[in-house]
Amino acid sequence: MEILEITKRIQELKKQKNAIILAHYYQNPEVQAVADYIGDSYQLSKIAKANTASVIIFCGVHFMAETAKILSPHKKVILPVKNAGCSMADSISYENLLKFKHENPNYIIIGYVNTSAIVKTLCDVCVTSSNAIKIINHYKKMGKKIMYVPDQNLAKYVNYLNQNNPTIDFWDGECYIHHNLTVDELARQKTFHPNAKVILHPEARLDLLQKADFIGSTKEMLDYVKKSDATEFIVGTEEGIRYCLEKDNPTKKFYMLSPKLVCGTMKMTKLIDVENALLEQGNRYEEIKLDQETIELAGKALNKMLELSE
Ligand code: 13P
Ligand code: SF4
Repeated sequence: MEILEITKRIQELKKQKNAIILAHYYQNPEVQAVADYIGDSYQLSKIAKANTASVIIFCGVHFMAETAKILSPHKKVILPVKNAGCSMADSISYENLLKFKHENPNYIIIGYVNTSAIVKTLCDVCVTSSNAIKIINHYKKMGKKIMYVPDQNLAKYVNYLNQNNPTIDFWDGECYIHHNLTVDELARQKTFHPNAKVILHPEARLDLLQKADFIGSTKEMLDYVKKSDATEFIVGTEEGIRYCLEKDNPTKKFYMLSPKLVCGTMKMTKLIDVENALLEQGNRYEEIKLDQETIELAGKALNKMLELSE
């Protein structure tokens, strides 16, 4: 009952404030249910840039709301829970990347979108899990030396696809949610569900990725499942994706690869936080504010990504 009441108030507030709600696939189901758009990092950044609302309530983690602000600097962007960070984004600091750049001026710096706005100012281009391979290969073909930050697993996967010819260099960051998945856990699930297709996010380790039927961003996983004739899937990404998987495919069955697939910071946002963000009340929300130089430099890297993804 309470959920229905808050949802109704949120719908009213959205109209009054000319606001839209964007939610990542990892958000709590009731939050995804009130969103105008649900998407992966890439889709949500495109929507943030293209839409005409005055206010964006970004239900995701901090770097995602920053990305929306950089791409739409004239809109008010609000993150409902200011402490919703990302351990992957925290695995690289501005100072360390700046030092690398000074010591290696000939490198192209390719930054995963899971980085802070200030780290993005040091990147030549950004990528997300849905366009990383395409964009990294674009720079490889130009014969550039590449430093990819901060996800070691996605970099190892790209090197594997390119048969290490030549390799890209990479930072030692990772997402603990995906990095901690193991081949043994998959083998166990396979004994229970031998016919299930295995779908994995590229932030998982290479030894596990080599056992997948499909590897892709959250949106790409959803597309794969929709098109597939298979009826059972073992899912190797954060469990919030089940909301859309089950909604879009009511006759198919989904098994999480591991019970550990819960991102604590993605799950911080509750429905009441969305209402409070719209009302700008309480002390949990944050309006994203960035200085002009950060917006310009990080915006260059993000817009380059959008250009190269077309
Ligand atoms: P996507 O780009 O697939 O949405 O992934 C975001 C993320 O945080 C993965 O852990
Ligand atoms: Fe960051 Fe991992 Fe959570 Fe994605 S799942 S937001 S990469 S900590």
